[in-house]
Amino acid sequence: MSKQQDTSKLWGGRFSEATDSFVQRFTASVNFDQRMAAEDIAGSLAHAQMLCTVGVLTGEELSEIRRGLAQVEAEISSGSFQWSIELEDVHMNIEARLTELIGVTGKKLHTGRSRNDQVATDIRLYLRSAIDAIAGQLTRLQEGTIGLATQHTDTIMPGFTHLQTAQPVTFGHHLLAWNEMMERDYGRLMDCRARLNQSPLGAAALAGTTYPIDRTQTASALGFDRPTENSLDSVSDRDFAIEFCAFAAMLLTHLSRISEELVLWTSSQFNFIELPDRFCTGSSIMPQKKNPDVPELVRGKVGRVNGHLVSLLTLMKSQPLAYNKDNQEDKEPLFDTVDTVLDCLRAFGDMVPAIRPKTQQMREAARRGFSTATDLADYLVRRGLPFRDAHEVVGKAVAHGVASGQDLAEMALATLQGFCADIGEDVFEVLTLEGSVAARNHLGGTAPAQVAAAAQRALARLQAR
Ligand code: ARG
Repeated sequence: MSKQQDTSKLWGGRFSEATDSFVQRFTASVNFDQRMAAEDIAGSLAHAQMLCTVGVLTGEELSEIRRGLAQVEAEISSGSFQWSIELEDVHMNIEARLTELIGVTGKKLHTGRSRNDQVATDIRLYLRSAIDAIAGQLTRLQEGTIGLATQHTDTIMPGFTHLQTAQPVTFGHHLLAWNEMMERDYGRLMDCRARLNQSPLGAAALAGTTYPIDRTQTASALGFDRPTENSLDSVSDRDFAIEFCAFAAMLLTHLSRISEELVLWTSSQFNFIELPDRFCTGSSIMPQKKNPDVPELVRGKVGRVNGHLVSLLTLMKSQPLAYNKDNQEDKEPLFDTVDTVLDCLRAFGDMVPAIRPKTQQMREAARRGFSTATDLADYLVRRGLPFRDAHEVVGKAVAHGVASGQDLAEMALATLQGFCADIGEDVFEVLTLEGSVAARNHLGGTAPAQVAAAAQRALARLQAR
C-alpha cells in the first residue's frame, strides 16, 4: 500500500494512505450499479429541488445542478461517460462528474443526504420500473393464454392425476388453469409494488439530518405514496427485494410446470401439440430431432431465480441495524432476477399463443385411457347403487376392457349388464367424451359452457387492471 494521502476520494478527508488497489476493486460496485444511473439522477433532482424549497440551496444553485445533471444524463445515454472504479459506485461517479462540470455547487448536492438513503431510494425506483415492465409482459402472456383457451373450450384431452389418464377435460380448461397460477403471480407482484413504494430519502446515513428537509415533497416528486416511517429501517430494509425474488421464484416455478407439460406434449409418446419451429432447435447428430429448447430453458431458469431468493434471504439474515456494506450484495441477484423474469415472460408470451394442439390425437388419448369410468360409476349411483359398490362394478368392467383391449364405450350392452343388471341402453350417452365433459357443468368445472364463461371472466379481470 502506498503511503501518500489520497485526495481523489469524495470521503478522503480522514485517510492518510490510498486504498489498496485490490480492496478498491473488491469494494467497488460501479460495474453493476451503473444500471441505476437514471434513478440516481432522478433522486438527486428531487433532493436538490427540495433543498431549494426549504432554503438550503439558492434558485441559482438548483439551476446549475439541473444543468449539470442533464449533461451527465446525456453523457451516460450516449455512452461517453467515463465510469471509474476509483469512484466506487454509481452515486460517487455521478456526483464527481457533476462537480467537474459545474464546480463547487456540485459539492452541495449531497447536503442532508447519505449514500445510504440514496442507494435505498435508487433500488426502489429501479425495481418499481422493472415491476411495471414485468406486469406488462405477464399481462401479455395471460392474454395469449386466455385467447388460446377461448378457441378450445370444447377441445377434448385427457386430464391427468399421477400423470395417469384420469378424466376427460377440455384443452381450454387446462389453459385456464395455467392462467390462474399467473393471476396469483400478478397479485403477488402488485402486493410487492405497493409495499415498496415508500420513499427512504431523508433518512440520511441512519438517524435523519439536521437540515429542515421536507420528505413528503421528495416522496411525491419521485412518485412514492409516502415517506418511510423510520430512518434506521429505511436505510437497512431490503424486504422489498426479497419479496420480489419470492414472486419471481413462484412465477418461474409455474412457468417450469407449464414448460414440463409442453416438453411432454411435444414428445412423440404424447404427440398432443406442435410448437412452431422458431421456438425449437435441431440436433447436430440426429437429423430427425426437433427439440423444445425454449420451454426446456425456461424450466432450467428456475434454478438461478430460486438461488437468488436464497442469496438475498441469507444476505439479510442476522444483519444488525442499520446500513451495512453487506447490502451492496443485493444488486446482482436482484438485477439478474429482473432480466431472467423479463426474458422468460417474453419467450412465453411469444410461444404460448403459437401452440398448435393436435386435437385428434388429444381426443384419441382421452378415449384410450378409460377416462369415462367415473361417469359410469356416477350413472350407477343415479340408478340407486351406493358409490362404493358402483366403483367396484366399474373396476371390474375396466379390468375386462384391459384384458380384451376394449374401451367401455366399445363394449356391448349385454357385456356391461353382466357387471350390473341396472345398466340400460342410455349408458352410452354418459360414456362419450363429450357427455363426460358437458356433465361437469358448474362453476370451475370443465363443461365447454363453463370454460367459455371462465375465459370471459379471466379476460375481464385483465381489462380491469
Ligand atoms: N454501493 C453502496 C451499496 O450498494 C452504496 C452505499 C454505500 N454506503 C456506504 N456507507 N458505504 O450499498
